[in-house]
Amino acid sequence: MESPRPDADSVFLSDLHRLVRRLIEQPDDREAVETPLGALVRDHLGVDARTVPVTIEKVSPHRLADADIALELLAADDPDARLTGVSGGAERHHEDTQNLLASRYATFAPGPVEYVTTVTGPQSTRQTVAFGLRLFRFEGAPVAVLVRNASPMHGRETVGVDVLATDSAVATRLIERLHTEMNEHSVIRGNVVSFAADEYGRGLGALTFLERPAVGGDDIVLPDGTLDRIRGHVIGIGDHAERLRAYGQHLKRGVLLYGPPGTGKTLTVEHLLTATPGRTAILLQGGSLRFVAEAARLARAMTPAMLVFEDVDLVAMERGMFGGPQPLLFEILDALDGVGADADIAFLLTTNRADILEPALAQRPGRVDLAVEIPLPDADARRALLELYARDTALSAQALAAAAERAERTTASFAKELVRRAALRATLAGHELGDDDLVDALDEMQHAAADITRALVGAAPDSAAGSQPHSH
Ligand SMILES: Nc1ncnc2c1ncn2[C@@H]1O[C@H](COP(=O)(O)OP(=O)(O)OP(=O)(O)O)[C@@H](O)[C@H]1O
Ligand SMILES: [Mg+2]
Repeated sequence: MESPRPDADSVFLSDLHRLVRRLIEQPDDREAVETPLGALVRDHLGVDARTVPVTIEKVSPHRLADADIALELLAADDPDARLTGVSGGAERHHEDTQNLLASRYATFAPGPVEYVTTVTGPQSTRQTVAFGLRLFRFEGAPVAVLVRNASPMHGRETVGVDVLATDSAVATRLIERLHTEMNEHSVIRGNVVSFAADEYGRGLGALTFLERPAVGGDDIVLPDGTLDRIRGHVIGIGDHAERLRAYGQHLKRGVLLYGPPGTGKTLTVEHLLTATPGRTAILLQGGSLRFVAEAARLARAMTPAMLVFEDVDLVAMERGMFGGPQPLLFEILDALDGVGADADIAFLLTTNRADILEPALAQRPGRVDLAVEIPLPDADARRALLELYARDTALSAQALAAAAERAERTTASFAKELVRRAALRATLAGHELGDDDLVDALDEMQHAAADITRALVGAAPDSAAGSQPHSH
């Protein structure tokens, strides 16, 4: 039998095979040639840059501005400090520092510095070095520091800070100082920030700076003593941090606010933020709760700090960031534990499902040392709420009291909405807001609530005027 003739494919494959073997056995023996950038670094360091160790430090993308500020500070001690960019097109994004200084293929030269606009506060931005090389003296020794912004499209998820110094101990100390200055001069310090999940739902999204809210104690109606207890725990401990520390008492504290929707949990958090100007606050909720570990790290670096986890029940059963066996809720509770007890950090958790949290909290005791119920308002509280939200109107005390009596089992946010509806009715009808509008608005809202209830239980909505909620 005749053996089959080799087809074109197998000829090609065997050629390719030979070629690959040749490439492996005979590596490219072209010497890496010092680039103009390498020459600049050699002039500065006084030795061939190819022989100098590179100490690589990775920094979270949301701390690019902090790293830039810190490096600028470190370089400011040296009147001859220089900052340059790197030319060489897109190639420079693919090469590591050593290859930028000596390359077989490309020539990288000093060029324009690349900047990016970073957000540094609710109202401020900063031109920040996104690709640049700083040459300066640190502790008297010449150093070169290359900073590159994170660039996921080039496979870099973090900011790279590469330090070249003939003595690598100098580089290590420089990086230590870098972190100290980054934390001390951080743009985050003293601000209220929140993480946003990025559009692909992975990695760290952008850090958002929020305006610090302005909610006074008078803007909140809670049962007597409730706000004082919360304030004492969150703010009071911070105010007396030094004395408590001297007594050997820990400062870390965890507060859980639980209760039905619309009763003032978030409002209370906003009040606490208002009452602690200058305290760094990090807010996580919904999808961004995944960033608990990063948020805890940030809080620790920015003490005194407040770390807020809103609506934790929503993630109670969700798997963690790394899909491990621990639900995200345990990750959050463990993050509370991972922070040193003497750190002045207040953790605030809010939920309207204390029943879901309870078993988890029982399994991880000591994480929450104050749990406060934010209940539905009673009749007195409803009246106080209506008075609060009607303070700019001429609605009479009797009308407000009557509405408070009628609006049984409603939330605080209901009281606010009621006054708004009454004002809306009067305005649209073209007359001054009066007590009748309040009565009509309450009728309307109670009917609407009853309709929704009926729709939810599957009965046809009854639109007949005068229909009342079911009685049992
Ligand atoms: N106790 C309260 N005193 C005064 N106003 C309140 C109170 N509770 C709620 N409100 C009003 O209702 C709005 C919504 O309340 P808030 O967001 O604090 O509710 P919540 O308890 O956080 O609800 P959820 O569980 O849905 O997050 C507040 O911005 C405020 O205007
Ligand atoms: Mg809320």
